[in-house]
Amino acid sequence: MSQPYERYLQEILIDSETLQNRVVDLAASINEDYADTRRLLLVCILKGGVMFLADLVRHITVPHSIDFMAISSYGDGVRESSGRVRIDMDLRQDIADKHILIVEDIIDSGHTMQYILSLLETRQPASIRICTLLSKPSRRLVPVHLDYVGFEIPDKFVFGYGLDLDELYRNLPFVGVCKPDMQVGDDC
Ligand code: IMP
Ligand code: MG
Repeated sequence: MSQPYERYLQEILIDSETLQNRVVDLAASINEDYADTRRLLLVCILKGGVMFLADLVRHITVPHSIDFMAISSYGDGVRESSGRVRIDMDLRQDIADKHILIVEDIIDSGHTMQYILSLLETRQPASIRICTLLSKPSRRLVPVHLDYVGFEIPDKFVFGYGLDLDELYRNLPFVGVCKPDMQVGDDC
């Protein structure tokens, strides 16, 4: 039987096995780079980063804690970044003197990450690095230095593995390309 998401799916861009293998590689780099680090805090950007974080931490062996921030930069159903960024949920803890690793689903224009960085930097952490599952370099409007990148992808709208299609299908185990100009209807 066909699945509801199939009418929006043009192609699978990154399959589940490739994602999982890359997550293991990224965790290995993180384990190496933070081997001697105390007070490592992974800050997951909700909601898109949640699948990635959950898989990543299962392979991170250095002691760390996790926390969450919810940010929105896209309106429902809108596929372009507005450049306007809003905090829906802030961190509950003080990050002064902590080593921060931001875990994000995708860097597109860079506006969201620039905003998060400028905000967190004012709180005097010991360091801040960025780990993103996906990056669309051709879409960048503001430069952002990325420390760990899972995959660089072309300028296509993708969904699955944490990324939503109008809030749906974050649960898919792969990253798929959405057919151009498809909107999720009220029937879904
Ligand atoms: P930026 O501020 O333009 O870098 O946008 C970053 C945010 O836009 C990400 O955290 C995602 O929530 C969303 N986004 C960008 N591209 C995509 C995509 O292809 N699929 C789903 N969400 C996306
Ligand atoms: Mg996001």
